[in-house]
Amino acid sequence: MIHARITGTGSYLPERILTNQDLEKMVETSDTWIRERTGIEQRHIAEKGQLTSDLAEPAARRALEAAGKIPSDVDLLIVATTTPDRVFPSTACLLQQKLGIHGSPAFDIQAVCTGFVYALSVAEKFIKTGAARCALVIGAETLSRIVNWQDRGTCVLFADGAGAVVLEASEEPGIISTHIHADGAYESLLTTVKPGPDVDLDKLADGTAFIEMRGNEVFKIAVNTLGRIVDETVDAAGMTYADIDWLVPHQANIRIIQATSRKLDLPMERVVVTVNKHGNTSAASVPLALDTAVRDGRIKRGDTILLEAFGGGFTWGSALIRF
Ligand code: UT7
Repeated sequence: MIHARITGTGSYLPERILTNQDLEKMVETSDTWIRERTGIEQRHIAEKGQLTSDLAEPAARRALEAAGKIPSDVDLLIVATTTPDRVFPSTACLLQQKLGIHGSPAFDIQAVCTGFVYALSVAEKFIKTGAARCALVIGAETLSRIVNWQDRGTCVLFADGAGAVVLEASEEPGIISTHIHADGAYESLLTTVKPGPDVDLDKLADGTAFIEMRGNEVFKIAVNTLGRIVDETVDAAGMTYADIDWLVPHQANIRIIQATSRKLDLPMERVVVTVNKHGNTSAASVPLALDTAVRDGRIKRGDTILLEAFGGGFTWGSALIRF
């Protein structure tokens, strides 16, 4: 049986840092409120002209280097993003060109904050069926472009970044299982401005499609849904919570992360937290957190890792991994 194994991770954050103190000068908020309600201290913001594929490229190159691969080894390229460079070509095609890869399938996946988990799930199937042997799977975002910088309820949360993994065919188990879900009935709780009689469509075409969120409702559903998917994942593998070495959660809010850690009975020392430094980077958040903990030596080969995410749609998903 062919398994799909992560053989390298990489990430990239734009240089510019926006602190809570900076935000205090932009909207009516405070460092104390942001820290206490979200856990965020700072976030990275792309420079003018720096697009999602520009963040994805260094993350991808770092993952390839860690896996001992070169771009021409890649036979599948998937980018999960909510903020593509253009409507088309896909960000995956634009990245493929930057990396000098020719001929492999390359496409984007749009599942908002669950995008990376969706992309991993799709790539895993390509590898396990023999349709690909070396996949580059990336989550990359420039969310700062769709944030309403006058809305204190959302502008303190979202940020930019990219994370990548190389997934290869292997005789040893890697990805044990992935679980992905969606329910469009919740589309209005976390969305972008919808076209309608009061909305200037020309402005939307300029990229003025702002994030709108009913934060408190999203929060409660996220906590419950993530609690359920954790059970689904562990049960499917015939494991118990005690078998999990590391939780690598979507980095939306420290209080949501703490709720999942309590549910798993996993001390926070076994949970990878980057929300304080990265904010919510949507599809980039899980691979960014994974790469952070791999590179600082916390996550080691052989560890059992649970990835989970929840986002607009609603979409939600998980992956159980033997690293
Ligand atoms: O990644 C995709 C999934 N997204 C999420 O999981 C996000 C889920 N939601 C959340 O993380 C939280 O709901 C927020 C951090 C967005 C908000 O925290 P909350 O504890 O749910 O606050 P709230 O929305 O209930 O608002 C409480 C108060 C309100 O004031 P009043 O009405 O009580 O006077 C807000 O207007 O906090 C106010 N508020 C702020 N105050 C200072 C909202 N944003 C801010 C702010 N600074 N930035």
